[in-house]
Amino acid sequence: MRRPLIAGNWKMNGTKAEATDLLNGIKAGVAGMQKVDVAVCPPFPYLYIAQDLLAESAIAWGSQDVSQEPGGAFTGQVSAAMLKDFGCRYAIIGHSERRQFNGETDALIARKYAQAVSNGLVPILCVGETLEERESGKTEAVVAKHIDGVLDAEGVDAFAHGVVAYEPVWAIGTGVTATPAQAQEVHAFLRQRIASKSKQIADGLRILYGGSMKPGNAAELIAQADIDGGLIGGASLKAADFIAICRAGEDNA
Ligand code: 13P
Repeated sequence: MRRPLIAGNWKMNGTKAEATDLLNGIKAGVAGMQKVDVAVCPPFPYLYIAQDLLAESAIAWGSQDVSQEPGGAFTGQVSAAMLKDFGCRYAIIGHSERRQFNGETDALIARKYAQAVSNGLVPILCVGETLEERESGKTEAVVAKHIDGVLDAEGVDAFAHGVVAYEPVWAIGTGVTATPAQAQEVHAFLRQRIASKSKQIADGLRILYGGSMKPGNAAELIAQADIDGGLIGGASLKAADFIAICRAGEDNA
């Protein structure tokens, strides 16, 4: 069975003081949960706070991006080895906001994925269609292209070391959530695409849903057969909401 994973993507939010409060709140709220994996992905400068506060807890932490390069003259970038140095377990890769605002391509994202895996980080590969793509019937083609970027460059074995997050762009930060049936359909499609190369790897692969997941809709989404947890944006900034979503994962495991 796949263990549910609830991961918070804080995006570019918070201060040192807010990060400290939020992490302490989450730590207290999820203590005792045993069947769900919990992770937080603060901005780079606050990773040391996660390392300080969460080291003795079951909560993992990760980054929101990683360089495609191992090191050297790449101004402004952060390497996978540096993230390991700060105790990161996960690295979000290819988030739609980075595709949209930083021009990231599937080829670049595949290189980032490889850097993460080769340094012992677990990449969380984000895929998802825009509203226009959905309305013109291109959802499967778009998410297939996002998955194939890594599949073709790195092979199916790369998915034995990663997590996928289906995040429909039209659901991110909009308050509009994919219905459980809409999400399940895409998750099943993604799993099938991996299964066509390796059923064993597909069966073990965690596929998270992201896009306006909240305490009020988390349980019914996570209850779907191919939804193995959530990648949470806005609701991960409020300890009570994030804890409630973790509880939904715990109860559904
Ligand atoms: P929201 O939960 O704010 O919609 O964000 C989802 C997301 O982008 C997580 O990576």
